[in-house]
Amino acid sequence: MMNFDEWLKEASAEVDETVCQYLPAEEGYQKTVTAAMNYSVKAGGKRLRPLLLREVYRMFGGSGQEAEPFMAAIEMIHTFSLIHDDLPCMDNDRFRRGLPTAWVAYGYDMAVLAGDGLAIYAFETAAKAFSMTEYPERAAAAIALLAQKSGVYGMIGGQTADVELTGKTLDTQQLDFIYRLKTGALLEAPAMIGAILAGAPDEQVRVVERMAACVGYAFQIQDDILDLTSTQEVLGKPVLSDEKNHKTTYVSLYGMEKARQDVEALSAEAVGLLETLPGDHANLRQLIQMLVTRQK
Ligand code: IPE
Ligand code: IPE
Ligand code: MG
Ligand code: MG
Ligand code: MG
Repeated sequence: MMNFDEWLKEASAEVDETVCQYLPAEEGYQKTVTAAMNYSVKAGGKRLRPLLLREVYRMFGGSGQEAEPFMAAIEMIHTFSLIHDDLPCMDNDRFRRGLPTAWVAYGYDMAVLAGDGLAIYAFETAAKAFSMTEYPERAAAAIALLAQKSGVYGMIGGQTADVELTGKTLDTQQLDFIYRLKTGALLEAPAMIGAILAGAPDEQVRVVERMAACVGYAFQIQDDILDLTSTQEVLGKPVLSDEKNHKTTYVSLYGMEKARQDVEALSAEAVGLLETLPGDHANLRQLIQMLVTRQK
């Protein structure tokens, strides 16, 4: 029996291989943009979202191939969000996943296009699932959800409020909106897609959504904590970015102690919801618990 650390290492490597299989070829007159897309995805990253998708899919008994294009698609959307988040007009950060950001390496113009390219290629990729499944209606529901959680009612909506309210003191409702959308939505999507593709009943898909919302919220609070307490070497991205950009964060609003407590409380809530679901979820539980103490 493998221990959790060994399992995580192996699972992350498998997920990484799946994600990279679906990347576009670097050829033709558009090869600069595909090279920039692949550079940002291949730079690394924890691959948490596709791993979550795979594990929820398996928990509900899924055993087909059609989860794979969705795993690649969610990592493409996430990477697109990071490329644009780092642009000079947004967080103006020069380092990501241990390498110069896309705009530093390829120029502002190509970084905008690489983000656009990944956003659209994600759906081109997800659509491949239709020819890999006996349940096209599940793939259709999963694509619709991916769009919803990525767009103006999801990540882009959250980033909009984040950018627009930069430099202002946020009230708790505004902060809540931003965290649930800019970060929570892109964790809800893969968890729910895993459940939908495996044929989970609607009530359980809703439980999965609430569970992932807790994970996402905790994840962003921990991101704010690490922005203040970690180093660029460990994180692979600059620290003190929030201060530089005059962002109100969970830590600046509530203080470090409450921030740490709430990461723990939200993770415990997520685990509580997980425990109500069927199937084997030992690894998922440990994965969620690990996020509380994650250092990068
Ligand atoms: C960073 O996400 C952006 C946030 C939503 C906080 P991750 O911490 O998952 O970044 P990678 O994918 O590992 O680089
Ligand atoms: C960004 O939040 C969330 C995204 C949608 C990319 P941050 O701006 O705090 O993410 P990092 O710290 O740059 O990864
Ligand atoms: Mg940001
Ligand atoms: Mg940022
Ligand atoms: Mg951050």
